[in-house]
Amino acid sequence: MCGIIGYCGQKPAVPIVLEALKRLEYRGYDSAGIASLYDGRLLIRKDAGKIDEVIQKHDLASLPGIVAIGHTRWATHGAVTQFNAHPHSDCGGRVAVVHNGIIENNQQLRQELTKIGHKFTSETDTEIIPHLLEDELKNGCSLEQAVLNIAPRLEGSYAFLGISLDDPGKIIGTRKTIPLIVGTDAPDYYVSSDALAFSQYTNRVMSLEDNEVVVLTQKGIEFFDAQGNKLVKRARKLDHSWAESHKGGYQHFMLKEIMEQAQALSQIVHQDEKRFTNIALDILRARQVIITACGTSRYAALVGRYLFSRVGKKFCDVVMASEFGYFADSVDKSTVVIAVSQSGETADVVEGVKAARDAGAQVISIVNRPNSILADLSHQVIYLNCGSEIAVAATKSFLSQLAIFYLLSFAMVNSFDEAAARLTDLSGDITKVLNWNKSELIKLSQKLKDKSAFYYIARGINFAIASEGALKLKEISYIHAEGMPAGELKHGTLALIELGTPVVVICPADYTFLETLSNAMETKSRGAYIIGVSDKESDIYDSWIRIPEVDELLYPMVAVVPLQLLAYYLAINRGCDPDKPRNLAKSVTVK
Ligand code: F6R
Repeated sequence: MCGIIGYCGQKPAVPIVLEALKRLEYRGYDSAGIASLYDGRLLIRKDAGKIDEVIQKHDLASLPGIVAIGHTRWATHGAVTQFNAHPHSDCGGRVAVVHNGIIENNQQLRQELTKIGHKFTSETDTEIIPHLLEDELKNGCSLEQAVLNIAPRLEGSYAFLGISLDDPGKIIGTRKTIPLIVGTDAPDYYVSSDALAFSQYTNRVMSLEDNEVVVLTQKGIEFFDAQGNKLVKRARKLDHSWAESHKGGYQHFMLKEIMEQAQALSQIVHQDEKRFTNIALDILRARQVIITACGTSRYAALVGRYLFSRVGKKFCDVVMASEFGYFADSVDKSTVVIAVSQSGETADVVEGVKAARDAGAQVISIVNRPNSILADLSHQVIYLNCGSEIAVAATKSFLSQLAIFYLLSFAMVNSFDEAAARLTDLSGDITKVLNWNKSELIKLSQKLKDKSAFYYIARGINFAIASEGALKLKEISYIHAEGMPAGELKHGTLALIELGTPVVVICPADYTFLETLSNAMETKSRGAYIIGVSDKESDIYDSWIRIPEVDELLYPMVAVVPLQLLAYYLAINRGCDPDKPRNLAKSVTVK
């Protein structure tokens, strides 16, 4: 949620910041803006709209400066307007700040600042930061000292960058809970929410810890702790394969990421087997196991729960991360909490993990993004290794999460190798399912694009795939969709089925086949249009999405792929941008 970038160096700063904003657009895209220091002036341009629109409308590329900061917004406090877009400034227009996160005590600080004469021009929580800095700078502080002085007054989670005419030639940054990464390629220095913003220039990066402050000037970078003591940090190397962000010839990142899944699967098996098996044994030995996650990652967790039970005979619970805190009383030293998150940044998951750690639980996280906050908070980390995922809708990370749960469950019974071999073979099946169904899915999406609601049903291990298929559809095509266990239909939702209502039935030829089919028949009898996702044909289907016959615990992985593609083509046919669905952002760093 929101991307921030700062550049200070020998090159013109604005083109670098604009390019970075495009790379950060996945974090929010309702407004954008930049601020630069040039010739004794602080230049700020910003507006509501997608980055390209704002760049064109305000001719951002023409802005001069060798020090600049930029922001791409996902609105939290205040509507999507030009006033609320970042950067925000102080009363005298001498300080500019870009911010990701939420300042929870902003109302109180705003009142205090207003009382002493500060004038606010936006509804955002962010605007209090430049006003607080203004007072410190007036007292003669350096920009970094000003940040150190005001940070203790800020409650909530944040990463922000600032520049000022009163201490020109530098960018300061600090963070609490929200990530901030510095890139170095002397004499050029970068600071951003995500290294992806500058990975085309340098692969040498450093992370800030909570409450640390960084200062970037043309002479170099300095780090300070919360007390103002200088810190020495070593740069580490960024994995370039992770930081790739081009579309590779595809029209959208989402399509590229769907197509990359076969490859992701063959990569995921490269885990340290011994460490992996030890983690699996820790899970097995724990008195209780709770998996926590949000959205798509939570659906992966639900599949994981079935796998743990069927293979490892280990029961566990899945708790939505936003609800986790309400169960914290039941967490103790003998609990293993497994946190699942593509980004490793989701605020609810991070919060839950902190609560679990405080209660003495062992935390294992399954994440994609290297060096994420969640990874830092966990006792053990398993990486998905599926490369950067840019489209807001998760696809390849979901498949990779399923594969990790598959490996973990087999590692519980000492069969990691067997599971790894099956997953390697499965990557061919993923390619098959894409090739078999692409043209049918395109036709189907043209036919069904004007439907107002879709229902997805399945049983057992595939139930979470019904929910995931529905989530994909609603988030990128804005069609109402619900996924549910097939047996639940007649307890309410059946009332919504009418002539032509699309019902997607995930019914592989496994132990769920006959019962699921009979639930599908109940909807067909009421006029539903049945889309069967199965390796077995049936007269009930009005349209058949064929999947390969695989081991029954692997069906979720082959069944989800055509559902992703169906959602993608429906979005395209409805004129929606699948990479940037309205109101959503890739990294949900607010609670
Ligand atoms: C849906 C989607 C979201 C995320 C959710 C959690 O396609 O991407 O539902 O799954 O916001 O994100 P992570 O996995 O980064 O914690």
